[in-house]
Amino acid sequence: MYSDEAFVHYLSGKPLSKEQVWDNMAIILGHWHLLGYGIWALERLEDGELVGRAGLLNLPGWPDVEVCWALAPKFWGKGYATEAAKACVDWAFAEAGFPRLISLVHPKNKASEAVALRLGEAFREQIVFEGKPTKVYEILNPACA
Ligand SMILES: CC(C)(COP(=O)(O)OP(=O)(O)OC[C@H]1O[C@@H](n2cnc3c(N)ncnc32)[C@H](O)[C@@H]1OP(=O)(O)O)[C@@H](O)C(=O)NCCC(=O)NCCS
Repeated sequence: MYSDEAFVHYLSGKPLSKEQVWDNMAIILGHWHLLGYGIWALERLEDGELVGRAGLLNLPGWPDVEVCWALAPKFWGKGYATEAAKACVDWAFAEAGFPRLISLVHPKNKASEAVALRLGEAFREQIVFEGKPTKVYEILNPACA
């Protein structure tokens, strides 16, 4: 996925090298071990093909726990990102008990913004994050209200 220009456009901005992809995978796996939550791989049920990734990210410097999503382009337009993000939010609220989740979205990334809104997130503020303009969307855990 990280060699695809469309996939990386609002992420790294350019395709990652094999070494950078390894770093990325190590971070994703390490995140689970260090924090007990993280990113899941999304697989198509019929044949196990990798659809994308979604989950919870809270790296050093992150404003809060982020629910995030990214799909291989051939799986766009099928509702998979919203379905996966909803499952992540349900798990984060019911199992992990987080009071609040955010999503960090580039203002031009309309497809991602639409996922945040379909998920029930509300726009909170625009910040500069890692040097880029970033919209912060937020969803609150009803059990913590
Ligand atoms: C952001 C991203 C995940 C959005 O993907 P997406 O396919 O548009 O989002 P969803 O999976 O929720 O699918 C919604 C679309 O599927 C359509 N759809 C088709 N069948 C559907 C179904 N059964 N249920 C729900 N939606 C369905 C919806 O109408 C909608 O299309 P529309 O926007 O044209 O109306 C995708 O663009 C992506 O991976 N981008 C690269 C990585 C990235 O930028 N990640 C976000 C970083 S903040």
